Amino acid sequence: MRKPLMAGNWKMNKTIPEAVAMVKDLKERIADVKDVDVLICPTFTAISALAMETKGTNINIGAQDIFWEAKGAFTGEIAPNMLVDAGCKYVIIGHSERRQYFGETNETVNKKVKAALANGLIPVVCVGETLQEREANTYFKVIESQVREGLKDLSKEEAQKIVIAYEPVWAIGTGKTATPDQAQEIHAFIRKVYSEMYCCAADEIRILYGGSVKPENVSELMKKEDIDGGLVGGASLKADSFEALVKFSK
Ligand code: 13P
Repeated sequence: MRKPLMAGNWKMNKTIPEAVAMVKDLKERIADVKDVDVLICPTFTAISALAMETKGTNINIGAQDIFWEAKGAFTGEIAPNMLVDAGCKYVIIGHSERRQYFGETNETVNKKVKAALANGLIPVVCVGETLQEREANTYFKVIESQVREGLKDLSKEEAQKIVIAYEPVWAIGTGKTATPDQAQEIHAFIRKVYSEMYCCAADEIRILYGGSVKPENVSELMKKEDIDGGLVGGASLKADSFEALVKFSK
């Protein structure tokens, strides 16, 4: 049985006091939740404060990006052990916004995945097609190469630790969600590709859906066999809606 993971990607939102205030509220609201893993990925600047605020709770903290080198002359970058040091357990890698605006490629995703794993961080690796790719019917090919190239050359143990997030770019922040059937089709496809790469690890890894997940559509999505959680932007920014997502009922 795969334990569901509900993850909030806060993107470039919230100052440190705003982040702490929301988490103070959230941790009370979801204190009794045991059957879902909960993850918040704030901006780099708020990681340390949130790690302290969530110590001993069921809320995990993650980063939104990572660099693969351990240290040195890389102005503006953050090394894997610095994320661990600040209190991260997870890290989002290859989000479509990083692919679109900051030159992330499947090759850099792969380097980041390996560096994260080498430092004990759990990578949440994002894949997903653009509207153009969906309309041109090339999306299976695009997603397959994102999975094969971004997650290549892992050991058997490493392959079991990955989380994949399917986020169709056309559904991010648009209010337009993939239907549960559309999402399930891709999740099953991703699991099949991953099983060709790493055999049985494919049955163990969690595949999250992301793209306009909200309290109104979460339970329909979570009913699908291969959807193991959500990677949520907008609806993770308020304690009441994120609480509702964490407490989705199947
Ligand atoms: P929204 O939930 O705001 O559509 O964002 C999805 C996302 O990009 C999460 O990483």
